Amino acid sequence: MNLWAVLLAAGSGTRLAQHTGGIPKQFLQWKGMDIYQHAALALARCPQLRGLVFVFPPDMTDEDRHRFENFIKGEAVRLPHRETTGGARRQDSVRNGLLLLPPDCTHVMIHDAARPFVPPDLLARLTDALVHSDAVIPGIPVTDTVKMLDNSGHVAYTPNRSALRAVQTPQAFTLRSLMQAHEKALKNGMDVTDDAMLIEQCGGRVLVIDGDPVNKKITTPEDLSMLEEYSVPLPCVGYGYDVHRYAEGHEADCRPLRLGGEDIPGGYAVLAHSDGDVLLHALADALLGCAGEGDIGQHFPDSDPTLAGCSSAAMLVQVLDLTRSKGLRPIHADLTIIAQEPKLGPHKERIRQNIARLMALPDEAVNVKATTEERLGFTGQLLGIKAVAVVTMLRHTVF
Ligand code: CTP
Ligand code: MG
Repeated sequence: MNLWAVLLAAGSGTRLAQHTGGIPKQFLQWKGMDIYQHAALALARCPQLRGLVFVFPPDMTDEDRHRFENFIKGEAVRLPHRETTGGARRQDSVRNGLLLLPPDCTHVMIHDAARPFVPPDLLARLTDALVHSDAVIPGIPVTDTVKMLDNSGHVAYTPNRSALRAVQTPQAFTLRSLMQAHEKALKNGMDVTDDAMLIEQCGGRVLVIDGDPVNKKITTPEDLSMLEEYSVPLPCVGYGYDVHRYAEGHEADCRPLRLGGEDIPGGYAVLAHSDGDVLLHALADALLGCAGEGDIGQHFPDSDPTLAGCSSAAMLVQVLDLTRSKGLRPIHADLTIIAQEPKLGPHKERIRQNIARLMALPDEAVNVKATTEERLGFTGQLLGIKAVAVVTMLRHTVF
């Protein structure tokens, strides 16, 4: 199957014009893109699709064209594409698109640019069915009872609702059958509202598969509410781990023990380029983890002489500024210090309050634990101290 798609974006959107300042709906902006670009990206998720024909209005504005060129340059679609202009009626626009398909194309999907939400599984259902049919269209059951009216506005009859379907695009065809139907339509002056109708009127059979209620067409002012963007805070979790070796007072780069920005009495000291606050280092790494910003070694290299002996609290504040600039807000920190000695129980509350202050969090949003490793490993043998941090942050994401 050599499948292409024709994306119809040549309408004038008259039913919406009053509410869009005259902008045709396919050129409205949503999540930083034109509506038709969303539709193109949705189609491009069909694995069988080999290329795309865009059908634009003949009087497309320079700005619309400029955004199209940027969209193509951005290579989001990653498929060959062609471009043409539409006609007065939808069926004329389809025909112009069909005429531009490459000679080896065998199948085509016709899609309304005003349907940007087409889901990938609908495309899969269409292409599966297209293997056995000349024409496949998606349809959804009708929930309202539908009446046929006579010329005087009275009910002529009521069709059986269970046999009714409201049909959507993409509509998929063998190119041969759709081309033939369009040729006939041109010759006989037929007037249709979708491509399936042409096949029907030419005596062909059209298979209706399950559509998707999500695949709405933006048509009326009420439909614009589907384009409202809302921002939702999503949690993300960062993890940090750090170790410092205990040092004797005479060693170079020996720093008196400080944890969470608080000096810890008892004569213990660690080897470090900075002030050696193992807990704040683990915490900073956890924050950087949420921001996708690597680790503190990258941001504060120990080869930087200006950082010798520097305050880890100051580093933490810089890291917090960085996460804030990326739209992240901390809401919780769970911290564990692992050391055989000194005994940290008496200092935990002071450490917690200091970290809560530095992070602008309430005390209960910070938890500080201390544990030993039962005289095992390097902490058990008093060779060093380690800390782990788990931070929860909120990231504002636009939907
Ligand atoms: N379309 C087209 N060429 C036309 C008419 C319509 O390419 N001459 C496209 C529209 O851009 C839209 C799709 O066909 O993506 C479905 O048409 P519809 O929802 O009717 O859009 P408009 O014709 O633009 O809107 P209106 O009928 O309100 O004017
Ligand atoms: Mg129309």
